Amino acid sequence: MYNGKLVRLRPLEKSDLNEIMKFYNDYELKRLLGPPIVRSREYIAGWIEQVSQWTPWREGHLVMAIVQKETDDFLGIARIEDVLFPHSRAEIGISIYDPEQRGKGYGTDSTLVTLWIGFNILGLHSIYLDTMEDNERSIHVYEKIGFKRVGVLRETEFINGGHKGLLIMDILRDEFLEKYPPSSIIDSRFA
Ligand SMILES: CC(C)(COP(=O)(O)OP(=O)(O)OC[C@H]1O[C@@H](n2cnc3c(N)ncnc32)[C@H](O)[C@@H]1OP(=O)(O)O)[C@@H](O)C(=O)NCCC(=O)NCCS
Repeated sequence: MYNGKLVRLRPLEKSDLNEIMKFYNDYELKRLLGPPIVRSREYIAGWIEQVSQWTPWREGHLVMAIVQKETDDFLGIARIEDVLFPHSRAEIGISIYDPEQRGKGYGTDSTLVTLWIGFNILGLHSIYLDTMEDNERSIHVYEKIGFKRVGVLRETEFINGGHKGLLIMDILRDEFLEKYPPSSIIDSRFA
């Protein structure tokens, strides 16, 4: 497990299913993450089963639950995806599921811990993400951390009856390590 200042990232468990289903089909959350297609409880149970088998080296993915560090309450999902060697690059995705839990610093802390894992455990060289071009909160969070805007894939997302652009952002290992020396993020690495 990986402890940040406010959150812990741990493996996703079957027992997280109820918490995931509380918000998984929430239109606003889905709209920010991609096509808002609803999924059944059975489908998500199968997905949890599937991701628990994934490794960054074989399948190229690491999917973790974000929990509140003090209470262990489920907050959301952190993903490191499409890990590609020998390029040593990957994509990340962060979501805080409950709208009431957003704006409390959890997303920033989860992103930092996810980057820490990518750069300090997986030895990645570059990490990128995409976000809707109008997702101002996420863009603010990622820029605050040190991500740079790479460019916009124009009109590439069809949401709410219209096309939107997808902003690509990235951060390099040296940029991250200069701003966040390893000990500045993880409190107790494998508590
Ligand atoms: C994006 C997300 C991960 C951020 O996590 P969070 O816990 O809400 O973010 P934090 O509390 O750490 O930080 C929020 C920051 O955004 C700022 N913010 C909030 N609303 C904003 C807005 N509309 N425009 C610009 N900045 C905004 C806050 O002031 C805060 O900045 P500060 O730390 O400089 O004061 C989370 O909101 C989320 O999961 N949203 C839904 C799914 C999503 O959009 N995921 C990202 C897709 S790439």
